[in-house]
Amino acid sequence: MVQGKESEAEARLYRCTRTVAAALTHVLCIAFTVFLVFLSRPGSSLFSWHPFLMSLAFSFLMTEAILLFSSHGSPIRKFAHKTKGRIHWALQGLCVTCAVGGLAAIAYNKHLNDKPHFTSWHGLLGLITVCVVGLQSLAAAPLIYHSLAKGWSLAKLKRYHAASGLVTYLLGCSSLLLGLCSTWFTGSVSSYIWYLSALCPALSALVIMDQVSRTYTAKKRLQS
Ligand code: HEM
Repeated sequence: MVQGKESEAEARLYRCTRTVAAALTHVLCIAFTVFLVFLSRPGSSLFSWHPFLMSLAFSFLMTEAILLFSSHGSPIRKFAHKTKGRIHWALQGLCVTCAVGGLAAIAYNKHLNDKPHFTSWHGLLGLITVCVVGLQSLAAAPLIYHSLAKGWSLAKLKRYHAASGLVTYLLGCSSLLLGLCSTWFTGSVSSYIWYLSALCPALSALVIMDQVSRTYTAKKRLQS
């Protein structure tokens, strides 16, 4: 009896912690994007579009596209799953568009300044991230047009989509973190602001990892 009460209290504490963590992630991913808008002042130069569009794509759009499925932190928790799916596609479509735009801006800026391409870890991982997010979106087509993947169950497709989506998200967070190590960013902010900025992709990565892994381990437990 006492043990039952204890585990109930424990479960409530976990739920509460996850709700707070998800709410904090919403705040941080919006704050990070707004901060980069102020810092880069999009439109002030060709380069300025790069940090702006990339933070919009990977800090705001992709985080929100995944968080909307969270049972603790979704702003549209009560909506039908199908509606959530549609909003997810729209946000992911915008994410890919911004990522391609951000890549085009930095690549063209380097071309105009006669600088070599993809020479830093950030540039290299960034390029891989943009290719992977594009592939991930294409590979998601069978979830809508199931006839494209004959012989694959929808449950299996969803599991692969979630697992590869998590890898893509972690690539995005790593590229953001490496972007924060660029001389442009480190030269523009104090070390205190740098650590606060780095906290945003780091914390979001932990919360999203927890959300995706828990959803799929729970489903597996129900299936077995
Ligand atoms: C996930 C998000 C991001 C991706 C996928 C990404 C991708 C890239 C790529 C592919 C390049 C190399 C382009 C070339 O060599 O032609 C690059 C360069 C650059 N990025 Fe990003 N970026 C991201 C976020 C950021 C952020 C948030 C900042 C600033 C805070 C930033 C700052 C820079 C700078 C200064 C360069 C030029 C120097 C270098 O090549 O390392 N990036 N980025």
